[in-house]
Amino acid sequence: MLPTTEELAAARLSLTIDGPVATITLDAPERRNAQVPSMWHRLRDLGAALPEEIRVVVLKGAGDCFSAGLDLGMLSPEGVEGEERALLLGSDEERLAAIDSYQQGFTWLRDPRFISIAQVHGFAIGAGFQLALACDLRVVAADAWFCMKEPALGLVPDLTGTKPLVELVGYSRALEICATARRVPAPEAAELGLATAVVPRAELDATTADLVAALLANDAGAVRETTALLQSALVEDLDTQRELERTAQARRFRALQG
Ligand code: CAA
Repeated sequence: MLPTTEELAAARLSLTIDGPVATITLDAPERRNAQVPSMWHRLRDLGAALPEEIRVVVLKGAGDCFSAGLDLGMLSPEGVEGEERALLLGSDEERLAAIDSYQQGFTWLRDPRFISIAQVHGFAIGAGFQLALACDLRVVAADAWFCMKEPALGLVPDLTGTKPLVELVGYSRALEICATARRVPAPEAAELGLATAVVPRAELDATTADLVAALLANDAGAVRETTALLQSALVEDLDTQRELERTAQARRFRALQG
């Protein structure tokens, strides 16, 4: 069952569903949509409960930005009220279990039954950058920037961001971006293939809407199967991949025959 509006609000999230499109908003603008474990747990629950009809998930931030990443209070001795403390205070085993559960707030965005789009304005820092990387596509405002801040804080990117970053920009550039923790401006993000589209901020919503419409214009089953094929192409060898292609195509012909 989908989390209720109240449960989502408690985790500083909101959800709207419009036919086949689910829009999720990180909704803590006064903290620049800083992220906490309860938010990741709710994202995981939400992803698991999305109705089968959902074909596109749009993820965005309320207020001035996409997300300033981990709530820095999580790294302070006081912590963040109501949030678990496993990262700072737990045993190694507890830390590993906690991070595994946090990562599940990100992995569901790769489910091939829908296409996920991060709509990024302002900035996407640390966990915010990784959340954008967890999505299939990124529509980015021209004045936005990305930053993998973790190494500057003595940490590593651990919220599933390393793999898509390397896949998108290559090992050397990914290393340079992470190890320097520098800001990557939107035009560079476009050049590197990090951004699917870069447009003036005023056109961001309309650009996302156009992209959503273009994705929905094609056969739902074919788009799902193609998404799964392109994902498996990242990990499978050619023989396995062509077997996956022909079995998917056989399913498509069967479906088209009725
Ligand atoms: N956590 C908690 N609060 C945050 C925050 C964060 N990550 N980022 C911003 N805020 C809060 C500020 O403390 C401030 O609160 P008050 O109004 O109560 O003072 C409010 O949001 C507005 O912040 P600014 O006035 O700084 O806003 P700005 O728009 O001028 O600057 C910013 C925004 C560049 C993001 C700056 O706030 C900043 O650098 N924030 C820290 C970013 C950061 O280091 N994030 C951690 C990344 S690492 C990570 O995510 C770890 C991981 O995955 C393991």
